[in-house]
Amino acid sequence: MSTWPKDDVRIEGAETGTGAAGTVLIVEDDAASVGVLLECLRRESFRVLVAQDGKSALQRAEYARPDLILLDVMMPDINGFETCRRLKRNGLTADIPVLFLSALTNTNEKLEGFAAGAVDYLTKPFQYEEVLARVRTHLRLREYEFALAAGNKLLEARVAERTEELRSALVEFGKLKERLEAENVYLQHEVGAEHRDIIGSSPALRAMLDKVARVAPTKTSVLITGETGTGKELVARAIHEASSRRSRPMVKLNCAAISAGLVESELFGHTKGAFTGALDKRVGRFELADGGTLFLDEVTELPLETQVKLLRVLQEREFKPVGSSKTQAVDVRVIAASNRCLRDEIAAGRFRADLYHRLNVFPIEIPALRQRRADIAELARHCVARFARTLGRRGCDIGAETLRALEAHEWPGNVRELQNTIERAMISLVDDALCIDWPLAECSRGAQPPITDSAAAAMERSDALASVEREHIVGVLRRTGGVIEGPRGAARLLEMKPSTARYRIKKLGIRKSEFVT
Ligand SMILES: Nc1ncnc2c1ncn2[C@@H]1O[C@H](COP(=O)(O)OP(=O)(O)OP(=O)(O)O)[C@@H](O)[C@H]1O
Ligand SMILES: [Mg+2]
Repeated sequence: MSTWPKDDVRIEGAETGTGAAGTVLIVEDDAASVGVLLECLRRESFRVLVAQDGKSALQRAEYARPDLILLDVMMPDINGFETCRRLKRNGLTADIPVLFLSALTNTNEKLEGFAAGAVDYLTKPFQYEEVLARVRTHLRLREYEFALAAGNKLLEARVAERTEELRSALVEFGKLKERLEAENVYLQHEVGAEHRDIIGSSPALRAMLDKVARVAPTKTSVLITGETGTGKELVARAIHEASSRRSRPMVKLNCAAISAGLVESELFGHTKGAFTGALDKRVGRFELADGGTLFLDEVTELPLETQVKLLRVLQEREFKPVGSSKTQAVDVRVIAASNRCLRDEIAAGRFRADLYHRLNVFPIEIPALRQRRADIAELARHCVARFARTLGRRGCDIGAETLRALEAHEWPGNVRELQNTIERAMISLVDDALCIDWPLAECSRGAQPPITDSAAAAMERSDALASVEREHIVGVLRRTGGVIEGPRGAARLLEMKPSTARYRIKKLGIRKSEFVT
């Protein structure tokens, strides 16, 4: 009679049982059967563990986690089927393949074994070769299962990773789409705004253009000052066009044409529901200008609290849309313009000195037309040629006397006033010689002091300019019969957007009775 080999303890493979082939738990109460299996498995380098009954088998399986269990059916206490069911219910042991050891030939018993979760069975008396073949087959199957599960996990992780990549690409795509849509709307407004060359060769203009050429390729903020109509916007565009940012848009914001309540949302955008009436998310000018240039026209008109925010964006190169807690980085070059004397605005407490210094890194002052009278003839001829083209006329020229009158005039409205004068003369042209048969003084109030004069003089000048502008707008409105929009509307003739034209009409207090005859 065989003796029980080392009661219920782990038996390491001896010379032949190194465990390299795997760990097998034998659950068997019959010492003779254990002996046969032990010898057979140890010879093939299996590490073997032994348990005498179901209860100790469950414990051993849980902490030693063998690769395979050989389980006897007939055992005292908990029988093999029940032991198998418990092993399968326990998450720690459920995936260990179980092979029944049975002397039974009854098919029902075998079926019960499979129903309990076993994968195979070995019939007593054992055949060495069969035992080894079945044990090896199930161990290999288990290895494949593991490899499959690991592969599956890896695949799932990759799918999750790709899904995340796709999701963030989609978010990015959505953002770009929004930005493109907004950019498109913005650019449609800008289409039609003719971008003409800067005309003139006077030393004053050439010196100014030299500055433009030097600053354009840099990222430096530029502050353009000059009287109304001197070409501040033209110069801003020239800087943008000569910079490496020209493939991105130059986005403009006329700070005077936007009400104080809306200016921040125009600059930084807003989230949906940020304030009453914010029905949709809106992309701001800063975001639109990302990679390009932001032209802040009439910058002194920004409310003081917006000036603080603008300064922060210029310093930190990031902004928060109104109603959002998330900051967005931007790469924007800012060009600001004003026809006011900024130092006076600072002295009057209407403009922040720190913002002024930030914007004024590179100042460009455009000389008034009367300070470069040498440009008048060239500009006038350029305007004649341009209007002749639009009006479909040929052979128009400016007579010597008219040219002298133009050169002697003070041009408080500068190039814009000159353009408008030529346009008016071209419309009423009888023969080919352009003549100005109305006194130029009618629409100007004599010489205007330069922009750097005192605040009092500046105010006087701005009154004079406002009255020139007022008269001019009333004249245009008379011509268009009060129509503002459309190809024959006043906005087109004034070279303004309809919204700006309406704003100016309101600001200058022009009444309907003044232009409706
Ligand atoms: N040197 C120039 N050559 C050709 N056109 C010019 C020149 N300077 C100004 N203009 C034209 O004069 C008009 C007014 O120019 P612009 O709008 O740039 O002036 P501004 O200084 O911005 O005026 P405002 O202060 O009223 O906004 C535009 O039609 C512009 O094309
Ligand atoms: Mg302008």
